Amino acid sequence: MTNTLLILPGDGIGPEVMAEVTRIIDWFGARRGLKFGVSEDLVGGAAYDVHGVPLADATMARAQQVDAVLLGAVGGPKYDSLDFSVKPERGLLRLRKEMDLFANLRPAQCFDALADFSSLKRDVVSGLDIMIVRELTSGVYFGEPRGIFEENGQRVGINTQRYTESEIDRVARAAFELARKRGNKVCSMEKANVMESGILWREVVQAVHDADYPDVELSHMYADAGGMQLCRWPKQFDVIVTDNLFGDLLSDVAAMLTGSLGMLPSASLGAPRANGRPKALYEPVHGSAPDIAGQGKANPCACILSFAMALRYSFDQGDEATRLEQAVEKVLADGVRTADLMQAEGATPVSTRGMGDAILAALDASL
Ligand code: NAD
Ligand code: IPM
Ligand code: MN
Repeated sequence: MTNTLLILPGDGIGPEVMAEVTRIIDWFGARRGLKFGVSEDLVGGAAYDVHGVPLADATMARAQQVDAVLLGAVGGPKYDSLDFSVKPERGLLRLRKEMDLFANLRPAQCFDALADFSSLKRDVVSGLDIMIVRELTSGVYFGEPRGIFEENGQRVGINTQRYTESEIDRVARAAFELARKRGNKVCSMEKANVMESGILWREVVQAVHDADYPDVELSHMYADAGGMQLCRWPKQFDVIVTDNLFGDLLSDVAAMLTGSLGMLPSASLGAPRANGRPKALYEPVHGSAPDIAGQGKANPCACILSFAMALRYSFDQGDEATRLEQAVEKVLADGVRTADLMQAEGATPVSTRGMGDAILAALDASL
């Protein structure tokens, strides 16, 4: 079976970090016999500049065909004043929605070499390994009605939190399945104390558990308390399952536990395609980082680790995924740091390319 990959570098640091991923994909082809049919296309502001839309229909169609989409990042100040409907972020949201990528896996793992870099104490974060499963295709991101309307002589901004039972059911199942392969614990987060959608969320997650996953330990937590607990003692968690907006916020919180947004990968998975592989998009959790774009400073690890997730979840290459993750870990243990991972003033960081070089060298050494 050919492994097909669509690469969408996007904007800002997106193309810079993706250039390093491309070299790693080539390494797996040359040294591990893993051949990928790679194509590249535009998304976000880069697509808007050429097509006047942040995702062309032809790109959308290609994304539906391939085994995996790898995305860098979208957005940037150049596009801030664009109409909402053509903003770069809409391109990413369209991909997620039309590919029906309902389960967004956001692992937060603290590499031992970075434990002192977290804003929390070493013993709070060292060995941390949690997985946030964020619902990605519904909730307040997509609910109707939405918009800015006139009402009684003033404007009112409206977004709607909306979840159906089946939307909650399928993401809950994804979380329980993952938990069985990890620490066998799921904590579900919502605000059932103030939101009807939260009440339904809690009921459905509990029902899925009782019917099909009674062996997995399930707890429920209000999402605000969940944010607090993530900072207080994150190692109490294994898998966290939550909605689209809470998942967005909580995964950024979890990011800082591990030291830098530049370290966090993600996988967005949908239903299986005809060949049995899930529809899938892999992207770093971070954005286009306009403050450092074009300077060769970006940390490519999040994007590289996103490719490792693609090896694991789309291409059934768990061992090769581990090889890549261990190469990243080794490089960090050796003290190689991009600027976002530096604590001491005066120390010299490596560039984006330098980090890519070090990881390639560690891959060579792994053979
Ligand atoms: P951001 O993630 O781009 O940047 C936040 C901070 O983290 C910045 O200081 C940045 O320099 C730093 N940072 C992020 N990634 C880094 C990396 N790989 N290496 C080193 N430092 C890194 O978030 P933001 O500033 O809130 O958003 C900027 C733009 O990106 C906005 O247009 C936003 O909508 C977009 N965005 C896109 C995505 C995505 O494409 N998936 C995600 C988040 C934000
Ligand atoms: C993320 C981002 C996106 C989101 C934006 C850029 C649409 O913040 O992937 O976390 O809000 O989902
Ligand atoms: Mn976010």
